[in-house]
Amino acid sequence: MQVGIDQIAFYTPDYVLNLTDLAQAREIDPDKFKIGIGQDWQAVVPNYEDVVTMAVNASRKIIDADNSHQIDEVIFATESGIDNSKSAAIYLKKLLELPDYLRTIEVKQACYGGTYALMSARDYVMLHPDRKVLVVAADIARYGLNTAGEVTQGAGAIAMLVSADPQLAVINNDSVFMSREVTDFWRPLDSDTALVDGHLSTEIYLTMFVELWQKYCQKNKQTIADVSAFAFHLPYTKMGKKALNQIIDQASVDQQESLTKRLLASQQYSRQVGNLYTGSVYLSLLSLLAHDDSLQAGDQVNLFSFGSGAEAELFSLTLQPDYQDLINATVLDYQLAQRQRLSVVEYEKMFKSQLYDSHQDQETTALDDRTICQFYGWRAGQRL
Ligand code: HMG
Repeated sequence: MQVGIDQIAFYTPDYVLNLTDLAQAREIDPDKFKIGIGQDWQAVVPNYEDVVTMAVNASRKIIDADNSHQIDEVIFATESGIDNSKSAAIYLKKLLELPDYLRTIEVKQACYGGTYALMSARDYVMLHPDRKVLVVAADIARYGLNTAGEVTQGAGAIAMLVSADPQLAVINNDSVFMSREVTDFWRPLDSDTALVDGHLSTEIYLTMFVELWQKYCQKNKQTIADVSAFAFHLPYTKMGKKALNQIIDQASVDQQESLTKRLLASQQYSRQVGNLYTGSVYLSLLSLLAHDDSLQAGDQVNLFSFGSGAEAELFSLTLQPDYQDLINATVLDYQLAQRQRLSVVEYEKMFKSQLYDSHQDQETTALDDRTICQFYGWRAGQRL
């Protein structure tokens, strides 16, 4: 029996920051951001959104009356959770009006959490082939104003429905994974922004990719010739290029050209949105399928999932016959183009108002808190 991703959907907020505007405000050469980092735009989260609202918006694109009663689990991967105890999945389940007889759980290991959620869903469906699992990966990547990481912020949610005989892609049983305690990136309990040693994190990412690639080839008796495309976790798009460059010499000249072209296709959405943390590698997959017209059913796409701290997994998907019908690139591109461009001043105001320890605009915050309380069905005055 084959299990995999039956449907996938993406949501990002309606506001966006142009990174040339940001570079100019920070007195940095815009080419550093556009070429050196490989980012053009960054999603900005308004005060009325959080990981739950983003997850609801992504999930509603793929959950309907026909499939909602087949779902046994909702697995919510995030490192931007809204409660230290209660899982974001239980709010998501309520807002999607799913039946009570299902499991809800939140998982965390930096950006790797989405892949653990997907693999756990795959294992469940293997044992219960007539049931489905909703996997959501949603995050807000925040480093802080005027930090080196600021250009790599972003936000959004990916929702995936995992089932037997999937329409989009089968998850192959070829995973290799590893974890190693590293202090490259973390977010203490009392901090709204991540602490990061950016250059160390980049180094660990590259090391883990090469180690896992060698292990993957050995375990599965494969070479790069078996891979039609890679989709990488993209904290910024240059990262994917750096990773692929480490192994691309193993491919023939023709294949090098095609892997590079497909890497560019996989980077397009990330360039416009930024880092999604848990959802990032799945946004790369979606971008690849939306922007490459040369892949075919039966092709193997290898995914490299990385989370700081650090944990990584390399595995492959096999594209299914109808995969192209499930990806509506025109709609996705239109939605991204319709976002409202904020000035740097507007972005900074929005950003600061969401930090608990900053001097907040009391009037705006009170209003937005009320809006969110109504959305979740909480009583006004309850802590967000
Ligand atoms: P930085 O120190 O500001 O940048 O930090 P830099 O000086 O290293 O320059 C970046 C690149 O721009 C360099 O190219 C420069 O040469 C180039 P590279 O050597 O890397 O190929 N450059 C220019 N290019 C063209 N024109 C110019 C120009 N000037 C310079 N004028 C850094 C960059 C990414 C480290 C920083 O933004 C950061 O700390 N980001 C956050 C951490 C991060 O994204 N790490 C990635 C790996 S860890 C990961 O993926 C996990 C994560 O998603 C979290 C999780 O798991 O939860 C982050």
